[in-house]
Amino acid sequence: MLNYPQVALDFMNRDHAEFISLREKLLSLLTSGSPNDEVDTSLNELFDHTQHHFAEEERLMHEVSFPPFPVHKGEHDAVLADMAARVTRWKQDRDMDALREWLDKNVGDWFVNHVSTMDFVTARFIAAQRPQ
Ligand SMILES: [Fe+2]
Repeated sequence: MLNYPQVALDFMNRDHAEFISLREKLLSLLTSGSPNDEVDTSLNELFDHTQHHFAEEERLMHEVSFPPFPVHKGEHDAVLADMAARVTRWKQDRDMDALREWLDKNVGDWFVNHVSTMDFVTARFIAAQRPQ
């Protein structure tokens, strides 16, 4: 299980929990050698979820003129580019081990690091700007 902190905005915590469950679902499909079309569906769900979540964070950061916006957005863009490349590669080579390794290690490490640093600071900043 991944160990990551709760942040100051509820919608982000809910989205992070959903990300975790989509990642777990995909990992278990890959571990059990499920059919490719089931993996495709699950991978698309994870990718869509990530795109929507990033877009919502970026909308709020923009709204409150969060100063390190470009840094946070830059990391989002890099992650989406990596995910898109992985989806393409998976559809070409159908290598379940490679996809599972990436999801388990790279995505897991990235998620914990990103939530603990950028999301944590961003959520606190946005929550502080809002009228109580
Ligand atoms: Fe983020």
